[in-house]
This record gives sequence, C-alpha cells and structure tokens, in this order.
Amino acid sequence: MAPVSIDVAKCVLVIGATSGIGRALALAISELPSRPTVIAAGRRQDRLKELEEKNLKTLQMDVSSDPETLKKTVDSLLVKYPNLDAVILSSGIQYQHDFNKDVDINQIAREINVNYTAVVSIISMFMPHFLKLSAEGRSSFIIPITSGLALMPGPGVLNYSASKAALSSFTTSLRVQLENTKVNVIEIIPPLVESELHDEQGTTEKLSKFWMPLDEYTELTVDGLRKGDIHVSSGHAATVLERYEKAGLKKPFGS
Ligand SMILES: NC(=O)c1ccc[n+]([C@@H]2O[C@H](COP(=O)([O-])OP(=O)(O)OC[C@H]3O[C@@H](n4cnc5c(N)ncnc54)[C@H](OP(=O)(O)O)[C@@H]3O)[C@@H](O)[C@H]2O)c1
Repeated sequence: MAPVSIDVAKCVLVIGATSGIGRALALAISELPSRPTVIAAGRRQDRLKELEEKNLKTLQMDVSSDPETLKKTVDSLLVKYPNLDAVILSSGIQYQHDFNKDVDINQIAREINVNYTAVVSIISMFMPHFLKLSAEGRSSFIIPITSGLALMPGPGVLNYSASKAALSSFTTSLRVQLENTKVNVIEIIPPLVESELHDEQGTTEKLSKFWMPLDEYTELTVDGLRKGDIHVSSGHAATVLERYEKAGLKKPFGS
C-alpha cells in the first residue's frame, strides 16, 4: 500500500493524552495545516480540562475498565464523532521487577493489561467502524505506541519490554491482515523520551540524563506520521529498528 499521510485524517483520538508523548502528539496534530479535530483521552480530569482550554475535545477514559464499559465508551464516541478516522494508543505504564526478590504479580498483570490487552481490545472495538470507512473509500489509521524495548528488552523492566514486544508483534500481523483495506496500521517506536512514565519508579532523575527532549521527539514523530512511514522511530530505537529491518526480522512470517 502506498504511504498515507496523517494529514488526511479528519478526527484523531489520542488515548493517553494527559501527559508525555500522547499529550505532545495530540497538541501537535491539532496544529497541522489540515486542522483535524483532536480528542484527548485519559483518566486525569484536571489534565483533560487544561487540554480543553487549548481547544482539544476530551474524553475521560480508563483503558483498564471492563470490556463492556470500554465498548460503551467507544460506541458513544463514534455516535458523537462519526468522522473519527485515527486512533493513537499512547496509554502505557511501566514497572521495574526483580525476580531475585519478591515480585508483585498484580503489577505484572496490570502492566500486561494496560500495555497490551486493553490496546488490542480497543482496536477490536474500532474495527467495524474503520472497515466501514474503508468500504466507503476512506482511509483510517490505527497507531499503537510500542517502544525500542519491544525490540531490545530492558532487563530491569522485563515485563514492560515483553508487553511492548507483544504489541509490536500484534501490530505487524494486523497490518498484514488489513493490507487489502484502507486501514493504515502504523507503529510508533519511541526511544527513551522525556515524560512522566518513570516517575512512579523513582528513576526519572537518572534517566533524564539520557532521554530525548519531548519537543525534539514530537517534531520527529509528526514528520514520520506526515510522510506516511509504517514504523515511526527515532534516536536509539531507530538504530535498533534498522538492525532488525536489515536482518529481515520486522517482516511477518510468509512475506
Ligand atoms: N517515555 C519513554 O521513554 C517511552 C519510550 C518508549 C515507549 N513509550 C511509550 O509511550 C507511551 C506514552 O508514554 P509516556 O512516556 O508519554 O508516559 P506518561 O507521560 O506517563 O503518559 C502515559 C499516559 O498513559 C495514560 N494512562 C496510563 N494508564 C491509563 C489507563 N488505565 N487508562 C487511560 N490512560 C492511561 C496516562 O494518563 P492518565 O494517568 O491521566 O490516565 C498518560 O496520559 C506509552 O505507551 C509508553 O509505554 C515511552
């Protein structure tokens, strides 16, 4: 399929837009020359209110809600925004686990649910709508955010890395399943980027010495989305991705 630019999107939902990468992308996309409607979603109401003041639409949403609640949220969103044609899935959490010590299995399950199961569930709930748009000749976009750690795992965050590897694998296969439709599946693969992701683990100060500044990251990512890249990556993650691509390892079985 020829590259399709995010510039054609009319209405973009960003889940996980109350901070970090999701927030920055939501604001940057709302400023594109095409001026799409942008809906920012997340749990923190005060953050959503601040985004409303910047002219974004908002949706309070917890991706770890039960499937019935999630389905109702998606269905009512589509009634309100029938033109919705892009979903960026930026919600994510990260914990450190040390298998030499006690491991909190509830945290393991929560991490897999938020970073993988919930993302896949939400995508499945948008599929009938996107396939309908495709049948009408309209493009749409499913854009999960994985991580460089999906390709090269971080031992301290082993379950996070595994959750992102699962999402990356799913995304690659989903693109193949949808190759005869106008649904574009794009994987955003960030390197270590300035955000609030590591605050809960107390590693922010240490990581801030190495991370890519959020403004720089956002500019590179929006450029990739506008070019229609299927893998939008930068920094160290792009270097690792290049090694995978050279070895033919980012291709699905049978291709
Ligand atoms: N920063 C990095 O170094 C880096 C590197 C590679 C990949 N990533 C990925 O990039 C994405 C964005 O992360 P970030 O770095 O921008 O982190 P962040 O600043 O912590 O943002 C995470 C976002 O996820 C939302 N979220 C978390 N749990 C949620 C839930 N149950 N329901 C709805 N929203 C939820 C948060 O909103 P609420 O708390 O308001 O719900 C927040 O908006 C994540 O998928 C992350 O894994 C980040």
